[in-house]
Amino acid sequence: MSGHEEAHVAQAFVSNFVAPLGPQLDAFEDEVSQNLGGGLHCVGLSSGSAALHLALRIAGVGPGDEVWVSSMTFAGGIFPVNYLGARPVFFDLDPKSWTVDVNNIAQQLEGAARDNRLPKAIVPTDLYGQSVDLDALEALAAQYGISLIVDSAESLGASYKRGRMAGTGGDAAILSFNGNKIITTSGGGMLVTKHKGWADEARFLATQARDPAPHYEHSTFGYNYRLSNICAAIGLGQMAVLKDRVSRRRAIFERYRAELSRPGITFMPEPDGLRSSRWLTALVIDPDELGVSREDIRLMLLKHEIESRPLWKPMHMQPLYTGTAYYGSGVDERLFAQGLCLPSGSDMSDDQQDEVIGRILQLLDSTN
Ligand SMILES: Cc1ncc(COP(=O)(O)O)c(C=O)c1O
Repeated sequence: MSGHEEAHVAQAFVSNFVAPLGPQLDAFEDEVSQNLGGGLHCVGLSSGSAALHLALRIAGVGPGDEVWVSSMTFAGGIFPVNYLGARPVFFDLDPKSWTVDVNNIAQQLEGAARDNRLPKAIVPTDLYGQSVDLDALEALAAQYGISLIVDSAESLGASYKRGRMAGTGGDAAILSFNGNKIITTSGGGMLVTKHKGWADEARFLATQARDPAPHYEHSTFGYNYRLSNICAAIGLGQMAVLKDRVSRRRAIFERYRAELSRPGITFMPEPDGLRSSRWLTALVIDPDELGVSREDIRLMLLKHEIESRPLWKPMHMQPLYTGTAYYGSGVDERLFAQGLCLPSGSDMSDDQQDEVIGRILQLLDSTN
C-alpha cells in the first residue's frame, strides 16, 4: 500500500457505499481512463480473468471457436477461452521482443483465411510489463475482421510507440489488479474498450444480466463480476503512485542488468520506442556459457529464503493442453527452460537488492 488508500476507503465507509457499485468505483474507472490517455471506456471488474471472459463473450466467442493466444502467459489469460467452450490455439514469441511473434500469426492467418477457418478472436499477451506490437496486430485484426483483445494484465503503466499506453489496444484490453501486479485493489480487473457498446454490455453481463424491469427479468445469463466500491477505493489510492512504481521497477531492472550482465545472461529485450513497466525483471541463463544453470541460481537463492521463479510455463506444455495446436519454433520453451524472474517488488530496498546480486555474483565466482 502507498499510504493514499485509507482515506479513499474511509470516504467509501462514510458514504456507506459498501457495495459493488458507488462513487469510488466511478472515480477509479475515470482515473484509469485518464491515465491511459482518455477517451476509452473502463469497466471495473472482480478480476482480470473476469474481464477476459466478458470480452471474449462480447466478441461472440462460443463453443467450437478458435481463439489464438500467446502460449507464454499465465493461466488466467487463457482459461476464459475454455469457459466459453472455445479452443485456444497457441503461438510462440518473437525472440527480439519476447512478445507474440506477429509474423507467425500473419502467416497462419493467411492459411486459415484460404481454408475458411479463421479464429474468432486473437488474444496476445503483454508479457512481464511489455506491450505487444499493437500496430501490426491491429492491422491484421482489421484485415481479417477478427476481434483483438489484448491481455494487458501485466503492463499497466507501460507504453507502446508514440507514447500510446499499454492497455489501450485492440477492440478491448484487460487489466488485472491482483495482489502481485504493479498496483492492486487486493483483487480486481478492468475491461478497457474503445467501443461504448462493449462497455455497456460488459456492465450488463457483469451485474447478472438484468433486463430493465421493476422485478428481476433475464433474457440471457450473466455473472457477478463487478469490482466492489471498497476495492475501487484502494485502487484510487494506488493510482496515485503508479508512475513511481514503474520508475522503481525500471530502476530495479537496470540495476540488475548493470551488475549481472555477462556472457550467458540475457535480460528481457525492450524494442525501440517501447517503454516496459518492467513488472518483473526477467532474464535467461545459458548454462553452457555461464557455467551455472537457472536452477543453480534459483535453488541457491531459495536456500537463503529469497524467492525467484522460472518464467511462465508455456500453456501448450501444460498437461491440460496436451495435443492442442501450437505454432512456433520453441522460443518460449527455451525461455521457460532457462528463464528466471528475480525479486522485483516496488518496495524492495537497495539493501535487499544488494543481497540478491551479491549472492548471485558469489555463486558465479565460486564456480568459474
Ligand atoms: C497475463 C495475465 N493474464 C491474466 C491474468 C489474470 O488476472 P486476474 O488474476 O486478475 O484474474 C494475469 C494475472 O493474474 C496475468 O498475468
